[in-house]
Amino acid sequence: KLQNKENSEESKVVRRKTLPSVLIIGARKCGTRALIDMLNLHPQVEKAQLEVHFFDRDENYEKGLEWYESQMPEITENQISIEKSPSYFVTPEVPERVYGMNSTIKLLLIVREPVTRVISDYTQIYYYSNSTNNASRSAAPPPPPPLSSLILHPDGSINYNYKATRISIYSRYLQRWVDIFPTSQIHVIDGDALIRDPFTQLQEVEKFLNLEARLKREDFYFNSTKGFYCWKKRNDYNDTNHNTVHCLNDSKGRKHPNVDRRVIRKLREFYRPFNQKFYNMVGRDFGWPE
Ligand code: A3P
Repeated sequence: KLQNKENSEESKVVRRKTLPSVLIIGARKCGTRALIDMLNLHPQVEKAQLEVHFFDRDENYEKGLEWYESQMPEITENQISIEKSPSYFVTPEVPERVYGMNSTIKLLLIVREPVTRVISDYTQIYYYSNSTNNASRSAAPPPPPPLSSLILHPDGSINYNYKATRISIYSRYLQRWVDIFPTSQIHVIDGDALIRDPFTQLQEVEKFLNLEARLKREDFYFNSTKGFYCWKKRNDYNDTNHNTVHCLNDSKGRKHPNVDRRVIRKLREFYRPFNQKFYNMVGRDFGWPE
């Protein structure tokens, strides 16, 4: 009987698509997928399945808010919808466009030690993208260029034109957001801490978003084969019977190639002043190696 009652109450719940009230704006390769999937564990959170790229791609932005809303999941009154598109962080037009849609929206930014982020980006582009294109099926792909040839000019100075180097200058991009949004609407997550201890980071996000404290330490467990945390999935709002286990796929948590120590030192030196500025802007020292 109780089951029937619950079912009939469930059937009365109205679900509809709504514009997101929270965005994960970036940064690329800092754990954006882990963050949105882990947050989606929360019964009050529903995520868009794909990166929508509404604000950063003109061809999508021109389709208007109705189209954007159509890309979002159906939610109940008690839920929020969330979307992540990591290039929002670095695309100049985006902060203003987001503000135009909702000036009180909450923004989540996940960052990671900047040199590791560069190496992760480089790994994705040069070690894995070749394996999926047709040309590589018939012939072995050319060996990846060494990272040093991409980030350094022949005179040893840093090459700003290499996109992966630029994206790790977090202070530069964050400036555009704080020029438009109050810092109280932006929560910065430490991506390295999310790898080590997801629950603690997620708890902070729960508070920032004024969600009920529903996530539990036991929702996350370390998978030693993968070398990362995985989590137990809730199937719906009332499901406390965690029966589905989920890890991110092999494209997340890749082995990074070895990088010459001198190159790492050079990059750390390069980021030092930008990191300091970023700490000041966020009001937190992330302790990234200098
Ligand atoms: P690497 O593959 O370089 O290790 P994004 O989703 O923004 O592209 O970020 C990818 C990064 O998320 C991965 O980079 C990985 O380090 C990190 N990450 C954080 N938590 C993870 C988890 N639980 N499982 C897999 N990867 C995780």
